[in-house]
Amino acid sequence: MAELLYEGKAKQVYLTDKEDEYIIHYKDDATAGNGVKHEQFAGKGVLNNTMSCIIFDMLEEAGIKTHMIEKINERDIRVKKVEIFPLEIIVRNITTGSFCKRLGVSEGVTLDEPIFEMSYKNDEYGDPLINDDHAMALKLVTREELTYIKETTLKINELLKDFFLSTNLKLVDFKIEFGKTKDGDILLADEISPDSCRLWDVDTNQKYDKDVFRQDIGNLIETYKAVLARMEKNNKEINNGL
Ligand code: C5P
Repeated sequence: MAELLYEGKAKQVYLTDKEDEYIIHYKDDATAGNGVKHEQFAGKGVLNNTMSCIIFDMLEEAGIKTHMIEKINERDIRVKKVEIFPLEIIVRNITTGSFCKRLGVSEGVTLDEPIFEMSYKNDEYGDPLINDDHAMALKLVTREELTYIKETTLKINELLKDFFLSTNLKLVDFKIEFGKTKDGDILLADEISPDSCRLWDVDTNQKYDKDVFRQDIGNLIETYKAVLARMEKNNKEINNGL
């Protein structure tokens, strides 16, 4: 059994016999409010891994450098070893969530331009929102690294918006993470799934993401299955040239 390096809320990271590779294992846990709300949903890890792999493959094909090497099985992926920047990189296209709570603005307003936000990943201080100068002062990232992260994030936003729109879902906002290899390459890491993105149906604005769990407004597994089904249907149509 491989040695467990790190256990997060929804994933585990294992060492491998290769110095520059890790294995990430997806668990069935869902948490919200910095772990205050915590439940297990049978099959969630499989769904998240499946969706995240489809998305990372799409981004790689579009020229985004990611940590992904291969999907090993339903719950495990092999990835390049990176040191994660302690930053949650958030993009907002439509107002909702903490943005509305913090600033007292209405929900559901489409923004003229995407908003780029950063939080310092630090549970003790509640992942506080920080700006570029804070990140530099705390030596979390260099100016050059941050420039690359911002540019890449905005490209990812465009790619993800198009990808989800083709499944009739609007990309409201999302969180991503980046890491650095020992050679200094910056790679998109962690996962992209309905745990980390807000997705609303184009026609009805129905929520197809972790807000169904956060707000107790629906069945998480059925919701995630529906997102995957849309992604797979779309893939089939593309492959069939429809
Ligand atoms: O809560 P907030 O509105 O700041 O969330 C913005 C986006 O970042 C949402 O898509 C949410 O799912 C994601 N997020 C996340 N992990 C966190 C905080 C936010 O995936 N710890």
